[in-house]
Amino acid sequence: MDNTNILIDVRSDTVTKPSAAMLQAMLHAKVGDDVFGEDPTVTELEEKVAAMFGHEAGLFCASGTMANQIAVKAHTQPMDEIILDKTAHIYYYETAGFAFHSGVSVKLVDGERGIMTAAQVAANIQPDFDWLPKTSLVCLEHTSNKGGGTCYTLSEIQAIRALCLQRNLKLHIDGARIFNAMVATGQQTADMGAAADSLSICFSKGLGAPVGSVLTGSKSFIRQARRVRKAFGGGMRQAGFLAAACLYALENNVGRLVIDHDHARQLADVLAELSWVKKVWSPVTNILLFEVEDTVATVAQVLDYLKENHILAVQFGPQQIRMVTHLDVTPQMVVRIGEVLKAYQPIA
Ligand SMILES: Cc1ncc(COP(=O)(O)O)c(C=O)c1O
Repeated sequence: MDNTNILIDVRSDTVTKPSAAMLQAMLHAKVGDDVFGEDPTVTELEEKVAAMFGHEAGLFCASGTMANQIAVKAHTQPMDEIILDKTAHIYYYETAGFAFHSGVSVKLVDGERGIMTAAQVAANIQPDFDWLPKTSLVCLEHTSNKGGGTCYTLSEIQAIRALCLQRNLKLHIDGARIFNAMVATGQQTADMGAAADSLSICFSKGLGAPVGSVLTGSKSFIRQARRVRKAFGGGMRQAGFLAAACLYALENNVGRLVIDHDHARQLADVLAELSWVKKVWSPVTNILLFEVEDTVATVAQVLDYLKENHILAVQFGPQQIRMVTHLDVTPQMVVRIGEVLKAYQPIA
């Protein structure tokens, strides 16, 4: 098959389109008014995801950002502070929503590829003075997007959890890609739930649904989160059509994430051999980061070249490019990307 003219979009795993089978599942969903709590498919999804993670309740949200922002709002008070890695999505990519919605400040930790240690978290808890913000929440990102799809070890998460319990802090896991982490590490969803007060899980990334995230936690937390979601304008009516896509994704698209991880690894192996590539961050899941040698080419030049060859990737730093593999990227496409990368001849 000739691959050369097919558009290959590895900008993000959010670009996936629902498959025919997923659309069928959506079409046949039983729906009701979810603001009245009457949508059976939404309820099924919320209960199923909460049970998987060993939490009491779940809340269907329009996006990962909304789920994270609701969690921050429900866990904190204005003038509080949250501890996060300096690259955390909640800090970096959510339009300062933590300040806008929740009136909290952030304490940024210099983690390793987006992963913090318990010792780093401990060192960033504020002492109890009137003139300092009050630390009340720690947010982990598992996998870390800007870290290049990196994962926490279970023992580090548990150490951070123990610290949070000791210091009376809440722990939220931004698990936008938590199933990538589960598949890559062999960790169990129940262990994640046991370690966290809340979790946000996205279905519109590697799992291939068009829309949707679920926030999980205790009954009382989700009760409050539900009120916050309404105030944010996120109370949806016949949302079961969307929840059906998430249920389909949960049943059909989790196990196959290993393929995406393998694809990212294959591309990393190609990049490691190229003279115009300065550094490749070893991929652990489906996110691949690499740095272009600045004496040889700019990121814009490389991205333009890729685009001329029908491959879309994104700039992720001054000399850094990100590629994300996902279920709409076939093995043939991975081979094609490799060929195009190998054929690149910098002008400089
Ligand atoms: C780690 C992480 N958290 C949260 C989000 C937000 O998800 P959404 O785009 O659905 O708002 C993203 C999106 O890429 C992400 O990478």
